[in-house]
Amino acid sequence: MCGIVGHLGPRNSVEIVMEGLKRLEYRGYDSAGICFVNEKGQFSVFKKSGKLENLQALIAKEKIIARSCIGHTRWATHGEVNDVNSHPHNSEDIALVHNGIIENAEEIRTELLAEGVRFQSDTDSEVFLGMLTFYTQKKKMGLVESIAQSFKRIRGNSAFVILNRATSEIFAVKRGAPLVCGINEISSEVLVSSDPYALVGVVDKLYFPEDDIICYLSAANKNLLRFFDLNLVPSKRYFSKKQEMSFKASEKGNFEHFMLKEIHEQPELMRGLVQFYFHGEGKDSLHGITQLRPERIIISACGTAYYAGLVIRNFIETFNGVSCTHELASEFRYRKPLVNPKDLAVFISQSGETADTLAAQTLCKELHVGTLSIVNVEGSSLYRQCDHNLLIRAGIEVGVASTKAFTQQVLTGRILSHVLAGHLNDKEKTNALIYKINTLAERVDSLLVNSGLIREVAQQLYNKKGFFFTGRGPYFPIALEGALKLKEIAYVHAEGYAAGELKHGPIALIDHEMVNIAVMGEDLFEKSISNVQEVRARKGIIVVIGPESHREEIKKISDHAILLNLEGLGEFSPLFLNIVNQLLAYYVAKCKGTDIDKPRNLAKSVTVE
Ligand code: G6P
Repeated sequence: MCGIVGHLGPRNSVEIVMEGLKRLEYRGYDSAGICFVNEKGQFSVFKKSGKLENLQALIAKEKIIARSCIGHTRWATHGEVNDVNSHPHNSEDIALVHNGIIENAEEIRTELLAEGVRFQSDTDSEVFLGMLTFYTQKKKMGLVESIAQSFKRIRGNSAFVILNRATSEIFAVKRGAPLVCGINEISSEVLVSSDPYALVGVVDKLYFPEDDIICYLSAANKNLLRFFDLNLVPSKRYFSKKQEMSFKASEKGNFEHFMLKEIHEQPELMRGLVQFYFHGEGKDSLHGITQLRPERIIISACGTAYYAGLVIRNFIETFNGVSCTHELASEFRYRKPLVNPKDLAVFISQSGETADTLAAQTLCKELHVGTLSIVNVEGSSLYRQCDHNLLIRAGIEVGVASTKAFTQQVLTGRILSHVLAGHLNDKEKTNALIYKINTLAERVDSLLVNSGLIREVAQQLYNKKGFFFTGRGPYFPIALEGALKLKEIAYVHAEGYAAGELKHGPIALIDHEMVNIAVMGEDLFEKSISNVQEVRARKGIIVVIGPESHREEIKKISDHAILLNLEGLGEFSPLFLNIVNQLLAYYVAKCKGTDIDKPRNLAKSVTVE
C-alpha cells in the first residue's frame, strides 16, 4: 500500500526521502514522487508512474539539495496509475502526500468546485489539498488550523504528510492509518513515515501518534517535534519508544531474495521467542495475561495471519478445551457477531496495520470484549489499541509473502494457549514446551541445509497446470497457507483444500497436468493416504510432504516424496511441514522468474478496506 516519507534537517532531505521510499518498496506500489523546497524558495515536484527507478532516473539529472522533502509511493485506489495521479499533489504553497481513502471526497470536491477551487487529478487526495487551499486562501486561516478543519471534515481512514513552502515545515495527521515520527536530537533531524522501517539508521526515538493528532515537524530551536489535537491544544496522545531496529535485519546479506533470507531466519527466531518469553523481558507480558479465563476465544485476522489463526484454534481446542471461533476480519466486521464480555478476541497481524483487522478489533471493543494482539510491530495501531499484546519477535519482514511471521505467530499462539491453560508456573509443562520448540528449530536447521530435493521437485513441476494443496485436521491450515504462498509469488493457480472435501467437487479438475501437494503427519495419516489414492486414480501428479516414519507407504503412492522426521514435534509438526511449502513456493517462483519479494498487485500491509 502507499508509503509516505517526510524529512526535515541539515542533511540532504531528498536523499533521505529517496532512501526511505526505497525501503518501503516492499509494501507494494505503482508510482512514486517527491516534493521539496528548492533554492529559489519554490516547490520542485518530481513524480513518475512505475518503479522507483523511474523517479530516480528523473531526478538523477538534477543537482538537488534540500533541507525538507516529502515523498510517496502510491498504490492506486482513486484514479488510474499515471504521473498526474501520483503524489505529491501541490499548490504554490502547500504540498501533500496521502495514504488511505477519503470516503466523502466527491461531495467535498463538488462544494470546492462551486467555490472556484480547481483540480488537476482524479484523486481523492487532491480534495484534501483543495480544502487546505480554500481555508488558507479564502478563509485566511493558518495552515495548521486549516489542516485541523479539513481533517475533521473527511470520512474514512487516512494519513497525510503536508509540506509548507513558506517555512519548509512538515505536518502530519492520521486516522486509522499507520504513521510514525522519529527524531535524532544530535543531528537535529526529524522524520515521518507510514513505516518505522524508513526511519532506521536516521533517528533514535520513535513516536507513534494516536488518531486525530497533528504532528508538527520543525527544525526550529531544537523543538523538533510537537503534537496538537484537532483543537490545536498541545497533546501527549502518542506512544514513544527507542528505535531498536538494526540495518543488518533489513539487508539481504548473501541471500538472493529477502523471502529466502526470512525462511532461513526461522530457527534463530524460534529460539529467540523462547528466550524472550521464558527467560527475558517477555515474561511480564505473559504474567499480565495469566488471569484471563475467557469462556470463548474469537480469533480474527487476514491473509497468512488468518491461516496462523486456524492453527492456533486447534491449539486452543486441544490444550485449553475452550470454544474457539475463527473469523476473517473483513467478514467479521460487517456481521452482527454474537459476542459477550466474557469472550476474548485475539487479533493476529504481522504489521498491526491491516485495516480490516483493526476494524474488527474496534468492533469487539465497542461490544465490550477484551482484546489481545499477536503482532510483530510494537507500537503499531493494533498494538496500541488492544488490551493485551504478545509480540511475535519476527524482526522486520520485507518479503511480501509472509513466511517467518507465520511461524512466529503460530508459536506465539501456542505460548498463549499454554498461559491461558494456567501452565506458566508448571515447570514440567513449560520445559516440555520449550524443548519442543527448540527441537523444531533444530529440525528446521537441518531441513534448510538439505533443501535440494525441494528445489528439484519445483524444477520438475513448475509448469504444470494447477496445484491442489490438501491436508486434514491440523494439516488443513498448512494446505491453505501453502497454496496461498504459491499463488502469491509464482502466479500459478493453487488451491488449498481439506483433503476429505476433494471428492465433493474439485476432484473433477484432476488430470495428468494437475499436481496434488498432500501435506500429512501422523494424525489422520491413513485417511490422508486414501484421499491421495483418489487423486492418483485420476492420474494426478502426487507430491507427499509427510512423515519419514511412513516412508514405504508414501513412496508407493507418490511421484515425489518429501519426508521429514516429525518425531517428538507433536503439535508443531504442521509448522515444520509448512517450511517445505515455503521453500517449494520460493523455488517454483524462481523457475518462473517472478519478482519474488515484490509480487505483482500485492501489498505487504493492506491499510485500505
Ligand atoms: C497482505 C500481505 C499478507 C498478509 C496479510 C495480512 O495481504 O500480503 O502477507 O498475510 O496482508 O497482513 P498482517 O500485517 O495483518 O499480518
